[in-house]
Amino acid sequence: RDSFDILLLPGDGIGPEVVGAARGVMDLAAEHFGVKLRYEERKIGGEAIRDEGGPVSDETLEAARASDSVLLGAVGHPDFDDAPVRPEAGLLKLRKHLGAFANLRPVAAVPALLDASPLKKEVVSGVDVLIVRELTGGAYFGEKEEGDERASDLSVYTKEEIDRVARVAFDAAKRRKRRVTSVDKANVMATGRLWRKVVTEVSKDYPDVELDHVLVDAAAMHLVREPGRFDVMLTENLFGDILSDEAAMLPGSMGMLPSASLGEPGSPGIFEPVHGSAPDIAGQGKANPYAAILSAAMMFRHTLGRPDVAEAIEQGVSVALEAHFLTADLGGSKTTEQVAEAVGRWIGAGEGVA
Ligand code: NAD
Ligand code: IPM
Ligand code: MN
Repeated sequence: RDSFDILLLPGDGIGPEVVGAARGVMDLAAEHFGVKLRYEERKIGGEAIRDEGGPVSDETLEAARASDSVLLGAVGHPDFDDAPVRPEAGLLKLRKHLGAFANLRPVAAVPALLDASPLKKEVVSGVDVLIVRELTGGAYFGEKEEGDERASDLSVYTKEEIDRVARVAFDAAKRRKRRVTSVDKANVMATGRLWRKVVTEVSKDYPDVELDHVLVDAAAMHLVREPGRFDVMLTENLFGDILSDEAAMLPGSMGMLPSASLGEPGSPGIFEPVHGSAPDIAGQGKANPYAAILSAAMMFRHTLGRPDVAEAIEQGVSVALEAHFLTADLGGSKTTEQVAEAVGRWIGAGEGVA
């Protein structure tokens, strides 16, 4: 196919800045390949609470379902920190509505950024990890109780929820270095023991993929001590949230990590940077747009079936990074727009087309 309907949900803080940058790159890539992109833009998060009375409207959920894919910026704003319904709830509802249970968060060392990482070059060099985070279960979605004296977040996992996300991880490993590290807390948590059991069962269908199990506290340590030991890291919702922010320090900034949130084949995916709305730098042109741009590339690869367009965008990103188009978080001084323009200029660079 060469014509797609994309729902843009820029959201709060730097969301509109990075989605604007990614859209510009997508348009240039689409033009380069003769692909037609039709956009609809809607509100989510704090701006939707303000203008529509809730963090995501039913119309927006329906528009997401009717689209080929969703490109999301970020949600979250300090104005709503004490609101009864927070902006973040809109994103959780959207993920659930689309059944986006598998969140792919690739983390790769970038040669041009080895100095941007707080970790030693020898530790970071050559790292290529894919975090597969379960996204619609666990403590995020269990029964909640919220009071001034007592609060609880119930963490529930079913066999089926673990099985389906594990298969995503093993399938991905088959196309990579054929290694899955499953991360749990089986020494303390019942969900962790079920997780381990189900993942071990699933692994029998993948005899050519090596599986090991690591407890989450140790995994957090290994991730900065020897990240090169990981290929695919499979874990539950909350652990995956935490470990992926830690992993952002391998390339050196939250602004470098893209993600794809996928459900059943054929359902629209949600493509979003791993970072948040960064209220501390919003509106200043300082936001690093690479994560959003790379999320757009993931969209072309994972749901639009156009890996050629994805690769061309990724090549543009590589060249822009090599040419030191770096925002402040990476030690540079380029603006969000300057980075996006540079990526656009080098789309498909190196593919042999003049
Ligand atoms: P954050 O990711 O927004 O920011 C953490 C730090 O990283 C900040 O110093 C910020 O300036 C920096 N940073 C993040 N993205 C950057 C980028 N693209 N370029 C340059 N610097 C960047 O996390 P936080 O401050 O803990 O959360 C702020 C709000 O965002 C909260 O309301 C939170 O709930 C929300 N949030 C939303 C998402 C999402 O929409 N997917 C993800 C994480 C956090
Ligand atoms: C993320 C974010 C979200 C999460 C929040 C904003 C709901 O931190 O996408 O990593 O915890 O999943
Ligand atoms: Mn997070």
